[in-house]
Amino acid sequence: MFANKLPPGPTEAFNLNANEESFALIHKLLLEYGDIVSLPSVGNKPIQIIINHPDYIKNVFVTEHRNMQKGTGFDRVKILLGNGLIVSDGEFWQRQKRIIQPMFHKNVLQKTHNIMCECNVRLLEKWKSNVDRGEPINVTKDTCSLALEIILRALFSEDYEKISSKGESPFFILIEHVERDLDLVVKFNSLRKYVKRFMQDRVESNRYPDDILSMLMLTEDKITQQKMSEKEVLDEVMTLIVAAHETTAATLHWVWYFLSKHSKALDKVHDEIDHLNEDLPSFESVQKLSFIRQIIDEALRLYPPGWLLSRQVTEQIKLGDYMLEAGSNIFISPYFVHRHPAYWERAEQFEPERFSNEKTKKINRYSYFPFSMGQRRCPGELFAIIEMQVHIAYICKHLKPNDIKDQPIALEPLINLRAQEDLYMQAQHRHSVAS
Ligand code: HEM
Repeated sequence: MFANKLPPGPTEAFNLNANEESFALIHKLLLEYGDIVSLPSVGNKPIQIIINHPDYIKNVFVTEHRNMQKGTGFDRVKILLGNGLIVSDGEFWQRQKRIIQPMFHKNVLQKTHNIMCECNVRLLEKWKSNVDRGEPINVTKDTCSLALEIILRALFSEDYEKISSKGESPFFILIEHVERDLDLVVKFNSLRKYVKRFMQDRVESNRYPDDILSMLMLTEDKITQQKMSEKEVLDEVMTLIVAAHETTAATLHWVWYFLSKHSKALDKVHDEIDHLNEDLPSFESVQKLSFIRQIIDEALRLYPPGWLLSRQVTEQIKLGDYMLEAGSNIFISPYFVHRHPAYWERAEQFEPERFSNEKTKKINRYSYFPFSMGQRRCPGELFAIIEMQVHIAYICKHLKPNDIKDQPIALEPLINLRAQEDLYMQAQHRHSVAS
């Protein structure tokens, strides 16, 4: 039997959103009230529920997904990305997903793997010259540029060269302009003109290079036999650019932070790549780098870039002992679930071995979801994992990061969870390895 009452929580109103205040408040409320908390909203907006328990998470993402749509937190993303895959819902989302899904198939990723390798070769040269000059490497900026260049080249292939010179392109304002404010929205939207030009040029010259933009322009939906309109392709392209680069770069930021501080983990990484008789790992062998994968999984556990996910209830649902009315907003934070002491031993510690084959079996599958879960799970997961594995394997083969002094890192929990300050890393050449 369940009572028709609300979960416990404070009486003061507050509108949760992806920002620092909400981060601190969610932390406080979970400690005070437990794994399900209700919170009145400002004005006549619907009630807000925070959940932090694997059973509720399973309900929201899996068993009750038909009664959910994307939550209020996505309004800000909509301003930036239009009606792209991350924010759309219902039948429109289903159609877009059917058209876009093929770009994540293994045969497409195999081609993207070449791009990933080429970009990392250039990055290594840059980092080696930093080392030769005794200058620290700005890991935050350089991994951001790397991830941005990879997705832009995967999208536009040969057309990318038309708008880039000396390794930079107008899209790099996404890196330089760190504030996620209205000014960025204006600048970001002005980038649409380049994509539009590429599209018009392809139509006029009937030239469709083998890249993701051509796929998006040409693929027909299997059910409706329709192609996307120009505006729809544009929204999806802008969505992919944002979704792919910031998340991956933020994860690499933490990977380098941990590798610089944990010499045993670094030794294991070196051991793994030295056993691989390849300088640049091939598409097949990169996926076998199991310890590097554990490092990535652990970095994503401690610092999931999408730290706050939200859903809105469309039809009344039951969650544990509680009934939630249509309109209720549900907030789920992978950051706090990933550190829940009931599901994670030594939750605050960096221990990549917890993701070994043996130990992974014991992890509650609804307590770890850096790429979300269910229908709306990130389709770019394998893309991102391969990209990060290539990067870590290749750079670690040639360079060894030096110890970073223990210093607390201030977080910036906005739409993506990032560190407030750029990470600077000193490194040295690995002379034992012939290049
Ligand atoms: C470490 C890297 C990444 C992380 C942690 C990540 C995380 C996420 C999360 C948490 C969501 C779901 C949000 C929700 O449930 O509300 C998502 C959705 C999405 N991601 Fe990723 N992502 C990453 C990389 C990528 C890459 C590389 C791409 C594209 C190449 C990509 C494309 C997308 C798209 C298109 C969606 C929307 C899917 C949908 O709603 O159907 N992501 N991502």
